[in-house]
Amino acid sequence: MQGEAYLKCIDPQCGLEYPIETTSVQCEKGHLLDVKYKNTPSENLKEVFYQRRNPQGSIFNESGVWRFRELLNFCQIDTENIDECSKYLVSLDGAEGRLSKPYQMSKAAEFVGISNENLWLQPEGYNPSGSFKDNGMATAVTHAKMVGATKIVCASTGNTSASAGMFAANEGINCDVYIPSGQIAPGKLSQAYQFGAQIVQVDGNFDDALKQSLDDAKNHDGYTVNSVNPFRIEGQKTIPFRALEYLNWEAPDWIVYPGGALGNTSSCGKALMELYEWGWIKKIPRIAVINSDGASTLSDLYNGKFEGEELRWNKGKPNTELITRYYDHLDKEGIRPKTKATAIQIGRPANILKGLRALEFTNGVATTVSDSEMLDGMSVVGLNGFDCEMASGASVVGVKKLMNEGIIKKDDKIVGILTGRQKDAMLPVDYHNNPQNKFAKPPKN
Ligand code: F0G
Repeated sequence: MQGEAYLKCIDPQCGLEYPIETTSVQCEKGHLLDVKYKNTPSENLKEVFYQRRNPQGSIFNESGVWRFRELLNFCQIDTENIDECSKYLVSLDGAEGRLSKPYQMSKAAEFVGISNENLWLQPEGYNPSGSFKDNGMATAVTHAKMVGATKIVCASTGNTSASAGMFAANEGINCDVYIPSGQIAPGKLSQAYQFGAQIVQVDGNFDDALKQSLDDAKNHDGYTVNSVNPFRIEGQKTIPFRALEYLNWEAPDWIVYPGGALGNTSSCGKALMELYEWGWIKKIPRIAVINSDGASTLSDLYNGKFEGEELRWNKGKPNTELITRYYDHLDKEGIRPKTKATAIQIGRPANILKGLRALEFTNGVATTVSDSEMLDGMSVVGLNGFDCEMASGASVVGVKKLMNEGIIKKDDKIVGILTGRQKDAMLPVDYHNNPQNKFAKPPKN
């Protein structure tokens, strides 16, 4: 098995390769890295994954991440050997990804204007720390453990810090969390405190916090667990794996995500590239990324709203200068990302190039929705008995918007990802106390 997994620079002109134990999140020329596998997994594994839904006492079968371990075997271990799995694979007692699968939600479908059979929504909020982050954190912390790291480091708008803090506490390692001062929902921040993480307050926004955390990780021997870490992306591939498995590996027409740092977009793209290359899926679903109106970098650049050029991956030759000029423009004009959906209040999506690659491979789209639309999306999910946070509401109203624009067709099959659980207690309270809101049910006296 040795030597079957390695790291490779995503820039086809650069293509530098590194051993799997490498902890840098970039190649020496500053490009992002992919985890690559030399083997082609047998399609018989589909049946193995299905059988593992009866876990037979193994937490690695119970886990919605490690159930697919052959497709993320960067530890290069014998995946059937549970003792060996226990030595390497980090899991919160099999809870990560365990409760995640797509559901039909009739009220959400009615609101969107599509038949109930065609819209699937996959709540990732029922992960142990309350968001999709646990999928990728289980794998990133596995790699951290594999290389003997004693401290993991992240910047966060909240959910990453909760997930990192939880796994760090469980593994007995330290965790530093860089947060934009005053911009995190208390319900998210309190989790990081609870798990014993060291909070570092940064004067600025998420983009500033990420920059500082990356610098500090490099200078003080910390292991970065933000989604620029390629091992995070590996675990997050299991989000589309679970959706596809549930649909008998028959690809839907669309997979829809809220867009922040674009780790999800990148991991979904990588998952689909791999599955298609191996012949596990015959059709490539299109990815739709939904930004907030107030933090719309990807949508602006992808749709040519800045300097009139539609930014593309362009077979590995994206116009990165356009991105630089866009960021300079934001700085010059003093434009800061601004939305009540703080999870996606991100101006400089660190994975933008992997995101563009994913959109190119899947013929994807990017668009924006407003705060009030996201709140409606969040609320209608609630009316189906499922809990999600405001950023996740973007997946629902994003579908509605793209349908109204004729981009998503009425008979298309769609999977929307509900990325996290409600942690900002006042958002639904305020929403329902304002009778003007579409789904408001104000209290009676
Ligand atoms: N939804 C939720 C609930 C999130 O917490 C995030 C990101 C996103 C969507 C955006 O996902 O970055 O993959 O495009 N939250 C990060 C954090 C940044 O620090 O918790 P993305």
